[in-house]
Amino acid sequence: MECFEVTGGVRLAGRVRVTGAKNSALKLMAAALLAPGRTAVDEVPDILDVAIMSEVLRRLGCAVEYTRTPGSGGGGRVVIDVPDEPSTETDYDLVRRMRASICVLGPLVARCGSARVALPGGDAIGSRGLDMHIAGLERLGATIDSEHGFLVATAPRLSGTAIWLDFPSVGATENLVMAAVLAKGTTVVDNAAREPEIVDLCAMLTAMGARIDGAGTSTITVEGVDELVPVTYTAVPDRIVAGTWAIGAVMTRGDVVVERGVPGHLTVALDKLADAGAQVSVTPDGFRVVMDERPRCVDVVTLPFPGFPTDLQPMAVALAAVSTGTALVTENVFEGRFMFVNELVRLGASVRIDGHHAVVRGRERLSSAPVVATDIRAGAGLVLAGLVSDGVTEVQEVHHVDRGYPDFVEQLKGLGAQVERVSRPG
Ligand code: UD1
Repeated sequence: MECFEVTGGVRLAGRVRVTGAKNSALKLMAAALLAPGRTAVDEVPDILDVAIMSEVLRRLGCAVEYTRTPGSGGGGRVVIDVPDEPSTETDYDLVRRMRASICVLGPLVARCGSARVALPGGDAIGSRGLDMHIAGLERLGATIDSEHGFLVATAPRLSGTAIWLDFPSVGATENLVMAAVLAKGTTVVDNAAREPEIVDLCAMLTAMGARIDGAGTSTITVEGVDELVPVTYTAVPDRIVAGTWAIGAVMTRGDVVVERGVPGHLTVALDKLADAGAQVSVTPDGFRVVMDERPRCVDVVTLPFPGFPTDLQPMAVALAAVSTGTALVTENVFEGRFMFVNELVRLGASVRIDGHHAVVRGRERLSSAPVVATDIRAGAGLVLAGLVSDGVTEVQEVHHVDRGYPDFVEQLKGLGAQVERVSRPG
């Protein structure tokens, strides 16, 4: 069992470079399936989820190679060689380890006319249904069945159609756009997600020869084409990792330059940090966050982009836990996302949960204790909390953090933190 030992009381200061976004890179890798031949994606983070997606693609018949880029902060190039006729089945052992494996569904059914992808089941941050993925693919003409724990989709050729999403789901928007690019005719996805990762995926698909309009707005129009070609593409910087460093700087009253951080992808989050008392400025290569005093509590409401990202909610709760005053944090995207709060309370935080609201009363300092990371972002939030706790906080189950943050310990150390990865007998 691997843990992080985090020694509290050190201010984060210096420069940190963010790689491409996990949530984009995984989808760009899946998009490679849409064209036979050799696709290369740069700035792909060296994280467990990328290794799992590589395995998903290998089992579909692709050759996948990852090479780290020195000095990139944990990024690299992935080269995916896609066969003329990929296989179409993705097993439960992979989907269970990483739900995002489901994003091969759209490309496979579009390109191969069928796909068998294991159903992911529930996970630690909520039920995370697939109803919008399924309903959208059915509107495009696919027949979808569920058998023996697999979702089985078939369609000789998809046909363009109008799709209205009940909620701007990131995953459903991506799956449907990846399906529609090879469909016959025009598809309009309404109430589409607007995240920068969607814009990134659409930009890569466009470079591959797809015809897409409206990426980054609520209405995405896709004109189907007969075939796509492989490309070399660079993933958009990871706004969640960038936001994690920004919040860490504020919590520890530090001074951090986030290289490759895109302020426009974090407008609400950086505004909240400024409201908390931080000085946030744009630099030629990213942004800088400086904090000289104890932060003030600010209310946060998570929403689809451009709202405050749900993936930064655990860090926002951790921040409020050491700020002056009381903050109301509202979670609107994932119902189970406050589960980690019990761990934060073990560090002495004062948090009361009422449905999808958390009332956080700030304390001067937290107090170290062993805590358990329950998912990627909760783990990062607990590490930040450890940085402002008295003593040494042991964060357990850090394999969750490894799924989303390349070189996390090294990056933290580069900013002056005292943190070590240690192995304990399981
Ligand atoms: C992606 C991100 C995740 C981020 C989330 C929201 C990846 C790999 N993960 O997850 O880090 O927190 O976007 O920004 O990119 N829903 C349904 N039915 C569906 C689809 C979704 O009910 O068919 C619900 C989910 O249960 C959830 C909400 O919609 O409550 C948002 O989910 P979605 O936007 O699809 O998130 P993911 O794509 O799973």
